Amino acid sequence: MFAAGFGGWEVGHSTRATVAGTGSSASSATFDPNVAAGAHIFVQFACAQCHGDQGRGGVSPYVPALTTIAQSFQPDRLRTIIDHGLGASANPTRPYMPVWGQVISTQQVSDLIAYLRAGLPKVPTADPPPVPQGQGAAVEGSVLYVRYGCINCHGPNGLGGVPNPQAPDKTIPPLSGVAFKAQFNTDQKIIEVIRSGSVIGRAPIVSMPHWGGIIPNDQLLALAAYLKTLKG
Ligand code: HEC
Ligand code: HEC
Repeated sequence: MFAAGFGGWEVGHSTRATVAGTGSSASSATFDPNVAAGAHIFVQFACAQCHGDQGRGGVSPYVPALTTIAQSFQPDRLRTIIDHGLGASANPTRPYMPVWGQVISTQQVSDLIAYLRAGLPKVPTADPPPVPQGQGAAVEGSVLYVRYGCINCHGPNGLGGVPNPQAPDKTIPPLSGVAFKAQFNTDQKIIEVIRSGSVIGRAPIVSMPHWGGIIPNDQLLALAAYLKTLKG
């Protein structure tokens, strides 16, 4: 009885997604579950921080808007770009499209593609966490760590351990612990690596994205302040 009712709800759910995608009021609309999941993943993995809210661009001249992407690229091509990255990763002064294949699951990439193909509709609560002001740089930095998706690669509290099988050390490094604190012992050293990234090799190796021109200086300082509070 309950299951049948639920099934009926799901049908209405998918049908109305297209309406929401073309820009009608999102408040009363329901969404295709894959499109909704894609919207949340787009925020979780900081796609929105480089490509803009709902992929509208405007963050950096080197990062394209994604609003018409579904018309130019087939799903297979989109999957390759998300899994393998794209662009001039050797130039440290410019952002490049990071390699996500080791970090984002096949299902999550499918959901991202569903969201891109639906025209990146506004999905309620798929918003980056608001950055607290006036509570000190470390508090601000702890939220920026989530907002810019650092947490997906470096783990909660910078504990590391996320697999990167093709990289020499087999994992994405922690941002805590004695070795990290010894190597990155000044704000300047921490900020420099966040800004200019570090390319270990080609996909499927995950590398540190270049955040120069994406993360403003005051936020780089806040991130450094937060990292300094982590386990030594
Ligand atoms: C650190 C910034 C950054 C992040 C984070 C990022 N991108 Fe990108 N992305 C780029 C840049 C830069 C390009 C352009 C690469 C080029 O063509 O040289 C790009 C290109 C793309 C393209 C191809 C667009 C085109 O017109 O060629 C797609 C699709 C894309 N990104 C999707 C995503 C998705 C989905 C996410 C989140 C999982 C994401 N990006 C996260 C920087 C970023
Ligand atoms: C797509 C995964 C990914 C994301 C997202 C990411 N990083 Fe990294 N980061 C890496 C990898 C991989 C390395 C190792 C680079 C190397 O060894 O050359 C790294 C290295 C670093 C280092 C130097 C650590 C060391 O031991 O060499 C710092 C500091 C750092 N990242 C901070 C950040 C911050 C802050 C963010 C968010 C703004 C972030 N990272 C987002 C993958 C990522």
